Amino acid sequence: MHPEGCEKVAGGRSDAKTTGQEGELPQPNGMPNVKPSRLRPTSYSRMTSSNDSTATNDDPVSVTPIKRIRGNLCLPGDKSISHRAAMIASIAHGESTLENFSSAKDCTATLECLQALGVRVEKDGSTITIFGTGPSGLQKPAQILDAQNSGTTMRLLSGLLAGQPFETTITGDDSLLSRPMKRVAEPLRMMGAEVELEPNGCAPLRIKGHRPLRAVEYQLPIASAQIKSAVLLAGLAADGSTIVEEPAPTRDHTERLLREFGAPIELNGSRIKVQGGVELTSRTLFLPGDVSSAAFFIAAAVSLPGSDLLIRDVGLNPTRTAFLSALRTLGADILVSDERVEGGEPVGSLRVRSDKLEAPRSLEISGAVVSNLIDELPLLGFLVASLGYEMTLRDAGELRVKESDRIAATVTNLARMGAHAEERADGWHIKGGSELHGTSLTAFGDHRIAMSCAVAALSAQGPSQIAGAANSVAVSLPEFWSLLESVAE
Ligand code: S3P
Repeated sequence: MHPEGCEKVAGGRSDAKTTGQEGELPQPNGMPNVKPSRLRPTSYSRMTSSNDSTATNDDPVSVTPIKRIRGNLCLPGDKSISHRAAMIASIAHGESTLENFSSAKDCTATLECLQALGVRVEKDGSTITIFGTGPSGLQKPAQILDAQNSGTTMRLLSGLLAGQPFETTITGDDSLLSRPMKRVAEPLRMMGAEVELEPNGCAPLRIKGHRPLRAVEYQLPIASAQIKSAVLLAGLAADGSTIVEEPAPTRDHTERLLREFGAPIELNGSRIKVQGGVELTSRTLFLPGDVSSAAFFIAAAVSLPGSDLLIRDVGLNPTRTAFLSALRTLGADILVSDERVEGGEPVGSLRVRSDKLEAPRSLEISGAVVSNLIDELPLLGFLVASLGYEMTLRDAGELRVKESDRIAATVTNLARMGAHAEERADGWHIKGGSELHGTSLTAFGDHRIAMSCAVAALSAQGPSQIAGAANSVAVSLPEFWSLLESVAE
């Protein structure tokens, strides 16, 4: 079912609906009728664009500070859910329709890999139709699969391919080829798949699947939704019940989607049990807006007094909303409305209004909560510094093996902006102090660092240039710059 309001936004088309004229508050029950072109002056100018064939590797964006954020947004579907829905639909029986599928390049990489495995995929705007092949219908690909920049594609696909009796190689871009893959190879080998990596434990990953796999009981050594999901997907092809135990809760979209597609999933504390050999049935699902993409606009609104932003139909899965809780701890005014469940996932609208925040001016993040805001931690660091607050982060060493070393990338950029920022092996200590100043920043080839820098630059003193930012955002949100422009005043 399409919720009113987001129907045309889906798939990240640039026709995303936005409103927000001066003096006009977002209307929870209807969009004010304002033409996007009248919304606001250009607040940043791209020095290169994604269509510019002369774009250099530097690919910079210049960001000028703005006054505030006002308007309504609907966002393309959640990236994590889109990957999973496409993969699970591929091994189900029948035709699945996925509405508001993510526009992220990462998810396109997943779709292309599935097509190379013989899955028919049709696209109509943001609606994707997947013609499921059944549990053993995937075919040996004619070429090496390219997961591009996407760790989720590489790791979850490995789980899916572990139960397919043919050999596949999965490669990726330089960033992905430097990320650890032993963590996924080990449990899949225990289950009976042959998995080869480079001597440094990285991809290209060569996998020769086996059917049936051995059902195992696997204790994850690290909290990782990607590894948990790979084992659960492999478990579908096992000769019994596979159990995965997590050291801390991580996003549970795979479990929810498997249930939606008809697999019995049993939860017992930190243990998740999946039954091998079940047949999955196709579904039509609306995929909620990506809360990790929403986080950038929410942070911008929180950092700029007088802001008022409504984001509709966004995913509110409790394993993904620790960022919102952290902002509330800092005194942010975030209201949830229109809560409901769509395709097994909690969805709702978020309204963020900002005034001077009054609350503790420091934040300590450590322990189990880290995996529930792992992707938002750099943004939180930038936001805390913009507000002149203090943040201590521990137990987040995983940030060093994301699309970039996000501890180094965050601290380096914040130090350039004049914040006191210190790296720790598993986190950082950040103290905002006086206002951040605009300067030369760098995305380090990482979409989330590019967008975090942009948010900090909006409230800094003076303009900033963010090297490598124009196109890198497309990895998760190709519409980032146009959506930001549409709500910037
Ligand atoms: C993801 C899990 C997280 C997260 C990534 C998406 C997923 O990675 O950082 O952006 O969709 O499962 P890890 O599982 O490596 O923590």
